[in-house]
Amino acid sequence: MRLSQEQIEFFHTEGWLFLPELFNPEETAYLAREAEGIYAADRPEVWREKSGAPRTAFAAHLYNDAFAALAAHPRMIEPIEQLFGEGVYMHQFKINAKSAFTGDVWQWHQDYGTWKRDDGMPEPRAMNIAIFLDEVMPINGPLMLVPQSQHAGDLEASHDLQTTSYPLWTLDEATVTRLVKQGGIVAPTGKPGGMLMFHGNLVHGSAGNITPYPRKIVYLTLNAVSNYIRTPTRPGYIAHRDFAPIKAVEDDALLRLARAHREAAE
Ligand code: SIN
Ligand code: MN
Repeated sequence: MRLSQEQIEFFHTEGWLFLPELFNPEETAYLAREAEGIYAADRPEVWREKSGAPRTAFAAHLYNDAFAALAAHPRMIEPIEQLFGEGVYMHQFKINAKSAFTGDVWQWHQDYGTWKRDDGMPEPRAMNIAIFLDEVMPINGPLMLVPQSQHAGDLEASHDLQTTSYPLWTLDEATVTRLVKQGGIVAPTGKPGGMLMFHGNLVHGSAGNITPYPRKIVYLTLNAVSNYIRTPTRPGYIAHRDFAPIKAVEDDALLRLARAHREAAE
């Protein structure tokens, strides 16, 4: 799958690009079911909110077949290789729950801030991908982006260890206000299967979810192979150390697994 010139230009100007319904309902229903099983497990890779509800599950692509197929899916890998002009590897893989009623806030931040400070990533040549597993609505804590904020570069941030259960390098209110005055805020919404790509320096965050509608999104980070991390401090299941380029699977690999899984259950 290749991006059009128009899509590439939009990404370079705005810092994000949304491809609605890139994955079909059979594929996403299968992934959503598998995610629930992962959240129910007692594993160190599954991090919980202060309330105990699941917040994020790291590295599921390393132990779950469905997420392994997603992590090497050509509909996701090929556009990113096209943009970077080289092979990519998985820097981080997480399934964020934003659970019904209890899903907590993600403060305003840039991801490259963490990759640089905590992982020693040389450049923001890694792409953030969000793949919707539930319907993302204006009311259930959609991801909010500040368009064009990636042009501001790597901003000063402070390490917030208090607000949520997840330590994060966050931006101050004056900085966010200044950038929002310039670029506004967008919150892409839509059915399961939508894929959002955004620049490592794009400012983003999300509010809590007080609705009965969960908002599961897979967030993964594809790093250009030449931009591999130099001085990681976080565990390997958070910042991966396998820098080999991903070899994409067949386009129907995930669908075939979903069907085999359904037949086995019948
Ligand atoms: C993130 O920024 O890494 C996650 C944001 C979210 O799940 O809303
Ligand atoms: Mn982030």
